Amino acid sequence: MPHTNRRVFIKQYREGMPRPEDFGIEDCTIAEVPAGHVVVKVDTLSMDAWIRTTLTPGSFHATAGLGSTIRALGVGQVVESASGAFSVGDWVFGLLSAQTHALLPDAGLTKLDLSNSLQPRDFVGPLGVTTGLTAWVGLIAVADVQAGDVVLVSGAAGGVGSMVVQLAKARGAKVIGLAGGPEKCRFLTETLGADVAIDYKNAQVAADLAKAAPGGIDVFFDNVGGELLDIALDHLAPAGARVAICGAISQYGDLNDVRGPKLYLRLAERNAMMKGFVVSHYAARYPEAMAEIAGLMREGKITLPEHVVEGIDHFAEALFVLFAGGHTGNLLVRP
Ligand SMILES: NC(=O)c1ccc[n+]([C@@H]2O[C@H](COP(=O)([O-])OP(=O)(O)OC[C@H]3O[C@@H](n4cnc5c(N)ncnc54)[C@H](OP(=O)(O)O)[C@@H]3O)[C@@H](O)[C@H]2O)c1
Repeated sequence: MPHTNRRVFIKQYREGMPRPEDFGIEDCTIAEVPAGHVVVKVDTLSMDAWIRTTLTPGSFHATAGLGSTIRALGVGQVVESASGAFSVGDWVFGLLSAQTHALLPDAGLTKLDLSNSLQPRDFVGPLGVTTGLTAWVGLIAVADVQAGDVVLVSGAAGGVGSMVVQLAKARGAKVIGLAGGPEKCRFLTETLGADVAIDYKNAQVAADLAKAAPGGIDVFFDNVGGELLDIALDHLAPAGARVAICGAISQYGDLNDVRGPKLYLRLAERNAMMKGFVVSHYAARYPEAMAEIAGLMREGKITLPEHVVEGIDHFAEALFVLFAGGHTGNLLVRP
């Protein structure tokens, strides 16, 4: 049965932030499903910062070819199958991309386990690779958070950051979140349970941080980079701090001109370590991470508000929301 697919594709590259005219939208038809392939009706897409880096040449995440559908991870339901691995009705996770229907080889898809009342959207939320699992890997596998640690998180009110705050609290840490604006700061303390929230858009960040962590920071989970990374390095605990570099969203505008930390010598002075990570390198630990997060969800200890953009035609707008910080919690697109 033919399926009409509406897709968002890249028309042209641009230095800096893409503009609406860099994207095209078109309908096409999926007429045939080759052996080993399935058609997935896309339910929800995860709006992730890495997508932007695919829109310029030389991307670490592989540049999207002109005319190709913008890449995005998501969940959806199989509506036609020529694969022995998947049946019509199965829910799957994978690189479904910015479209309503995805024709994909079965090898790249994972069947969702929806036991224990889990919902498909949980797999682009608390249990999502680029959300909850990234938070878990950075905080636990990389930074080895311990009860009593003072944990600082940048981008704390976003998808990854919200999960870091709650996982760190659940592990018995004191949590300080950095976010833009008073509303997001209220969200950090009142909804997520952070001990302290600091509005990085106010000029007092360093002073506020010194007050909130007089003995210094044991763990810095960095989503933002740039100036905030230097401020955090300057406030590391006297010995043994761990800095997990998850991302540097403040630097994604021009990847050839990334501002590195000026105060990296604090690492030597304070016997600290700084380590970057790619979540997929820790895939062997996903089951452990998922078990811990699912357990916390069952106990009602995880809240991850969704900011949902409806309609595939608004996919590009959602990308702009991500970088303008116009959302709180997890940013999703429902085609
Ligand atoms: N290492 C990995 O494997 C991996 C996997 C997934 C994601 N990541 C990284 O995790 C980070 C968070 O991703 P996410 O999807 O959860 O995004 P998000 O935090 O939901 O959204 C991004 C937030 O970053 C803040 N921001 C944007 N531009 C900024 C700037 N110039 N300076 C300071 N803050 C800025 C905004 O919050 P405010 O309003 O508070 O400014 C915005 O809401 C990203 O850096 C991403 O690349 C890494």
